[in-house]
Amino acid sequence: MNIEGNHWRTIWLDEGGKSFSVIDQNQLPHKFQTLSIKTWTEAVNAISKMTVRGAPLIGVAGAYGLMLALQEDPRDEAFQNAYQQLIATRPTAVNLKWALDRLYYKVIALPVEERVEAAKREADSIAEEDVSICESIGFHGLSLIKKIQANKSVDDSSKPLNILTHCNAGWLATVDWGTALAPIYKAHHAGLNIHVWVDETRPRNQGASLTAFELASEGVPHTVIVDNAGGYLMQKGDVDIVIVGSDRTTSRGDVCNKIGTYLKALAAHANSIPFYVALPCSSIDWEIEDGLKEIKVECRSSKEVTHIKGITTKSDSLLEMELVQLVPDGCVGFNPAFDITPAHLVSGLLTEYGIVKASKEGLKELLEIL
Ligand code: MRU
Repeated sequence: MNIEGNHWRTIWLDEGGKSFSVIDQNQLPHKFQTLSIKTWTEAVNAISKMTVRGAPLIGVAGAYGLMLALQEDPRDEAFQNAYQQLIATRPTAVNLKWALDRLYYKVIALPVEERVEAAKREADSIAEEDVSICESIGFHGLSLIKKIQANKSVDDSSKPLNILTHCNAGWLATVDWGTALAPIYKAHHAGLNIHVWVDETRPRNQGASLTAFELASEGVPHTVIVDNAGGYLMQKGDVDIVIVGSDRTTSRGDVCNKIGTYLKALAAHANSIPFYVALPCSSIDWEIEDGLKEIKVECRSSKEVTHIKGITTKSDSLLEMELVQLVPDGCVGFNPAFDITPAHLVSGLLTEYGIVKASKEGLKELLEIL
C-alpha cells in the first residue's frame, strides 16, 4: 500500500534470499524504519518483540525465518529446533503454526541439499498468496459495504458510511491490503463516502499508531477514539458496521482477536449493528470448536498496561520516543492480549471465498471449497 506516494509491502527478500527485510512497526507512526533480518534468531526476536505483528504477517515472517534457519544448517535437528523456537514466539494467532507447518512438511521430506531452495519457494508462495487472498477479502467486503450503504435511509444517504474497526488488521498486519481494512481500501478507491472510527486499542495502541498511520497514508477519512467510546457511538446511530480481524477462528465460528473485540461485539449486538470478521482461511483452526476453552491467550508484560509510549519534543525539536508511567509505583497490571467473541455475536465471516455464517454449517461450506 501507499506511504508518501510509494508502494510498500511489509516484508520482502534481500540479497537474492539470503536475508529479508520488514517495516519496524515498533517505530510507527513516528519513524518509518526498515529492519534487515539476517538470521533465524533475529526472526524469532522480530516476532516476539512485535517488530512484525498481525496474524498473517507473523506467519509469513515465520516462514522466512525457517528459510534462514535452513541456510544456516539444513539438517533435521537444527531445522526442528528453529521450528520449535519460532512457533513459541506468539502462541495465539494460528497463522504462524499454519505457515511453519506448511513449509516444514514440504521441506522435511526432501534431501538436505534441496531444502534451502524449496523453503525459499514455499515462503515466497505463502507471501504472494497472502496478497491475493487479502485483495479478495477486499472485493467481497466492498460488496458488503455497498449493500449496507444502499440500505441506509434516504435522510442518511448523503452522510458517510461509518465503519468501526479495532486494533490493526490492515496491510501492516499482512503482506499487503490487510483483512478488515482491505474492504475499506477497496471502498475508498471506488469513491464511496466512508469514514472509519479507529479504536485506539490499549495497551499497545495498534489502532492509534498503526491503523491511523495506514488510513492517513491512503487518504481515508478517519477518527481515532478511545476504546470505551464505541458503545456510545453505536447507541447514537453513528456506526453502520463493525469490521475486525481475527487471530484464530474456531470450526464453529468463535473468533479470537485483539483484547476488546468481544466488548465491541456485545455493543454491536445490543444495538443491531452488523459485526463482521475479516479473515483468510489460514486463520481458521479446524481442530477446535470452543474458543474460550481451547485457545491459549497470550498474556504479555504488565508494563504494557502500566506504561505508555509516545513522542516528546526535546531540545532542538528532536522527536524522541519516550515511555511514561501511568500508575502509582508498585501497581500491578494484567495484560491478556486477546479475547474470544462467541460465534452468535458475529454477523458473518468475510473470507477470500466470500461471506459465510459464523457457525459449524458456515465453516463446513468453506471446508468443502478448500
Ligand atoms: O498482537 P497483534 O498486534 O499481533 O494483534 C493483531 C490483531 O489482533 C489483529 O486484529 C489480527 O491479527 C488480525 S490481523 C489481520
